[in-house]
Amino acid sequence: MSERTYAAIRGAGHYVPERILTNDDLSKFVETDDEWIRSRTGIAERRLARPDEYTSDMATAAARMALADAHVTPDEVDAIYVATCTADMIFPATACFVQDALGCKNAYGFDISSACCGFLMALDTATGAVESGRIRTALVIGAEKLSSITDWTKRETCILFGDGAGAVVLQASDKPGILASKLGVDGSMADMLSLPGGGSRHPASEETLRDRLHYVHMSGQKTFKSAVTLMADTATEIVREAGLTFDDIDIMVPHQANYRIIEAVARRIGGNLLERVFVNLDRYGNTSGASIPLALSEAQTLGRIKPGDKVLMVAFGGGLSWGGFVVEWKP
Ligand SMILES: CC(C)(COP(=O)(O)OP(=O)(O)OC[C@H]1O[C@@H](n2cnc3c(N)ncnc32)[C@H](O)[C@@H]1OP(=O)(O)O)[C@@H](O)C(=O)NCCC(=O)NCCS
Repeated sequence: MSERTYAAIRGAGHYVPERILTNDDLSKFVETDDEWIRSRTGIAERRLARPDEYTSDMATAAARMALADAHVTPDEVDAIYVATCTADMIFPATACFVQDALGCKNAYGFDISSACCGFLMALDTATGAVESGRIRTALVIGAEKLSSITDWTKRETCILFGDGAGAVVLQASDKPGILASKLGVDGSMADMLSLPGGGSRHPASEETLRDRLHYVHMSGQKTFKSAVTLMADTATEIVREAGLTFDDIDIMVPHQANYRIIEAVARRIGGNLLERVFVNLDRYGNTSGASIPLALSEAQTLGRIKPGDKVLMVAFGGGLSWGGFVVEWKP
């Protein structure tokens, strides 16, 4: 019988645009203030891509850094999965632009649309492909230009989002790297968080523009409550499934939506988990599909994630969708 093939993260990278939009900047065009935003969300500033800087550009920059970290060349990449809800275009897939820019001449690729859970959905897809032996090396990218779907006249949402990208290289390994995972969706709550316009349900028209359907629509409080329960319960389940306890977790990298959500999740789980949570939403806001890989890569750059660490990731978002992974980093 042949030995089992595992999948493991071998490299990580990230990219954020240069332009910073502070809470004070926001208060110049919507009725809000720094104190309100910081106390309700923990966000102090976010990044904005240039008009001529696209999701695929940010994805490519993050992927380049991840490939260098993993010592993998572009032609070794078999597959490119891009998690995004702000694709360059409806088609072709953003992954195609990334493939071309990186020169990954042996890779196929496609986009995964699952809003803030997109990266974990993509990681799951890549893990399946690697563990089955169909591919050896995958680029798993989360990239977003949320500024392009943000309604800058709505203070309830425009304070939350930012642009950026993160990526990991997932490779076949003889040691387990993915220790446990769980994903879920519940489409009965689709209205809670959505971008209704521009798809086949509401194709772009003068009416969709007038009704501002091409922007993010959100029910903030309902999303908040669902997020806490779903992330805490998913984390508890997968840590147990991995044969671990929360004391074994070196670092938790949650979806960076709101510091109060993260605090409430940690409180629901108990113990001193909050001390081991990585947070960068103060500087980048919620970057949806980019949020977890951007945080993973930044945590590694800062020395907060080291080879062999047990890393817990959890996310929730539009769908509703939710998910979690426990991984051993670079086993
Ligand atoms: C959006 C969110 C920060 C709002 O915080 P909240 O405490 O729930 O605030 P509410 O929506 O109850 O609004 C309270 C008041 O603040 C006001 N308000 C909303 N946004 C404001 C802003 N940016 N500045 C100042 N006041 C604001 C509201 O108009 C409301 O005023 P009212 O009481 O006069 O009607 C919070 O609900 C949240 O973070 N939800 C989760 C969102 C999320 O993470 N989405 C992405 C999921 S991936």
